[in-house]
Amino acid sequence: MKVVVYKKYGSPNVLQFEDVEIPIPKENEILVKLKATTITTVDSIFRKGDKFFARVATGITKPKQPILGTEFAGEIEAVGSEVKLFKKGDHVFGSSIEGSGTHCEYYCIPGNGPLEIKPSNLSFEESTALPSGSLTTLPFLRDSGKIRSGQKVLVIGASGSVGSYGVQLAKYFGAEVTGVCSTSNVELVKSIGADEVVDYKKDDFTKQNKKYDLIFDSIGNSSFKTCKPLLSENGIYLNPVISFKILLQMMWTSKASKKKAIITFTGLRSSEEKKNDLTFLKKLVEDGKLKPVIDKIFTLDQIAEAHGYVDKGHKKGNVVIRFDH
Ligand SMILES: NC(=O)c1ccc[n+]([C@@H]2O[C@H](COP(=O)([O-])OP(=O)(O)OC[C@H]3O[C@@H](n4cnc5c(N)ncnc54)[C@H](OP(=O)(O)O)[C@@H]3O)[C@@H](O)[C@H]2O)c1
Repeated sequence: MKVVVYKKYGSPNVLQFEDVEIPIPKENEILVKLKATTITTVDSIFRKGDKFFARVATGITKPKQPILGTEFAGEIEAVGSEVKLFKKGDHVFGSSIEGSGTHCEYYCIPGNGPLEIKPSNLSFEESTALPSGSLTTLPFLRDSGKIRSGQKVLVIGASGSVGSYGVQLAKYFGAEVTGVCSTSNVELVKSIGADEVVDYKKDDFTKQNKKYDLIFDSIGNSSFKTCKPLLSENGIYLNPVISFKILLQMMWTSKASKKKAIITFTGLRSSEEKKNDLTFLKKLVEDGKLKPVIDKIFTLDQIAEAHGYVDKGHKKGNVVIRFDH
């Protein structure tokens, strides 16, 4: 089978194709023949290797795990003897266990891992774009933000993967949602449910005369300091992008401020937690309450081009890789 590897950090040119044996699933594992995966912003960051915290995770001098990719959708090719939840031929989608490894034609994952039967109303290309962004957003809003119906929520980066799920999930929880995006994405952000949109090319959201219970800075583009005046008395600033600043702010606001800054990490959540969330998210999709936003679909041969596109930082929702076996 074909796998895409990177053995050093750098531009999309570091990506190479290799031919390796199709893995044989262990007794507790399933083997999925992939139909689709994605190139996420995290894949782009890991490949570039230009961020300190990323290198702590991926390897200081060179990548420890040479295959990128966090999400997948495909058909089960084989199951180990202990697997009870799935059978050969099932159409599934899910998230990798280690946060990497799905940029290959066949992928092995424990049968009790973070995967589910594909939503009946989504294609493989759409299903693969569900796990990463929504599994990040859900715990931020529900657990860290303790989102409640009627609250006012601001989503910065509302046109991205994490942000587009932020808008839709905040709406699902009954919030009044304002999205911040560029002019070309205003209609998209309205179409996924935002009550109001601030076009950052024309207006500055910090100059609005409005208070928010939650500010979800999905691209880490702003800061707790900038957003603090916009937060209600016990408001929370949520930011998924790691930096020393947000870690320090989280520490001091947890002790000494009514307004909080919070970061959490999807990668630190257990397989069981992710599986439960995936089951919940799949139901929302099937009930018509959640839909992945797809920007572009590339073939596996075009994976370097797809990385280059994601590197630019302007993708709308998700960028998908389709496998033509
Ligand atoms: N903590 C965790 O566990 C975790 C997990 C997954 C991801 N993350 C992090 O989450 C971040 C977001 O990921 P993502 O995949 O959602 O990113 P993304 O899809 O690449 O988001 C970029 C989007 O933001 C828009 N944008 C750019 N500048 C903006 C601005 N000034 N104001 C508002 N919108 C702006 C872009 O469109 P325009 O350029 O047209 O505006 C684009 O649509 C990444 O840094 C990733 O590392 C964290």
